[in-house]
Amino acid sequence: MHEYLVEPIGADPTEFFYTLHSRRFSTLNRTYLLPVDHDEVKRSDIHHRLLQFVFKGRNYVGPVKEALQFGQHRRVLDLGTGAGTWAIDMADEFPRAEVVGVDLAPMQPSHVPPNCTFELCDLDQRWVPYPDAHFDVIHARALHIGIHDYPRFLREVARLLRPGGLVLLVEPTLAPCAPPNNHPPLHGWAALWDTYRACLTQQRIDVSVPERLPELLAATPGFENITVRDGNIPVGFWPQDPHLLSAGQLQWMDYELLLPALRPLLLCNGLPPSTVDRLIQDAQHDLYHPAFPPSTIIHIAYASKCL
Ligand SMILES: C[S@@+](CC[C@H](N)C(=O)[O-])C[C@H]1O[C@@H](n2cnc3c(N)ncnc32)[C@H](O)[C@@H]1O
Repeated sequence: MHEYLVEPIGADPTEFFYTLHSRRFSTLNRTYLLPVDHDEVKRSDIHHRLLQFVFKGRNYVGPVKEALQFGQHRRVLDLGTGAGTWAIDMADEFPRAEVVGVDLAPMQPSHVPPNCTFELCDLDQRWVPYPDAHFDVIHARALHIGIHDYPRFLREVARLLRPGGLVLLVEPTLAPCAPPNNHPPLHGWAALWDTYRACLTQQRIDVSVPERLPELLAATPGFENITVRDGNIPVGFWPQDPHLLSAGQLQWMDYELLLPALRPLLLCNGLPPSTVDRLIQDAQHDLYHPAFPPSTIIHIAYASKCL
């Protein structure tokens, strides 16, 4: 068994935060440069509600219920839990399961179902500090930009899952709102996302992970029954269908919060403040006034641990 490095959430959560360019960040991992503050909690909540629309009112796709039918101790792990909303909803839905949400920062609510707990841990380390075959379901959503070696991370996920357990990976594309055929791109929007991807690459984050989830799962020993469920999500207020309109509004709100959240990361990569502010303003302009009805892609893949 590996040494346990999980931190209980202590009495003084301020020790887990530092401030950079007016946003709050985690002291546990100073290379993860999206904020862990109030606006990111809001964005994490919005993202969760958006995916509930996409999953038609549910918290997941795939055989999650089936994976939680066996054994006396049913355990669910949410990696990079953010505001913890997925973990909380899963704890409500499966009251006999123990749900653990793990993150770099204590930004989850304190009033949660009794079967839900949160722990602090940097998942970008060699060992994820839980025993082998401990969990029935492992969920990791919008996490890959905090993980430098995603293949190693998946090997850890395989180790932590019991045989027959399920991993569910969800990663939004890092190239959203591509133009339809023969349509010019949203230049300001595209420039910001190109720069964001270049900064992540400079920090040795593999920006191709979202598109390659099935391939990466297939390359990890121990997974089988790999299933892909990628989806298109409208961005904005253009859909006529009320269900799609709600999804589009939520995705728009998510991006509206994300654009200023990228500022510290771009500044830390050496871009001058005037360039960063112009990039963000131009992207905001395209978000508020798109030249075509934009949509984005969410990459989803799940797999079972071999029996
Ligand atoms: C974009 S948020 C997504 C939150 C949540 N999974 C959701 O879908 O709403 C990414 C989360 O992953 C956490 N994170 C990033 N890198 C991490 C790491 N190396 N170890 C643990 N958590 C990490 C961040 O602190 C943040 O809360």
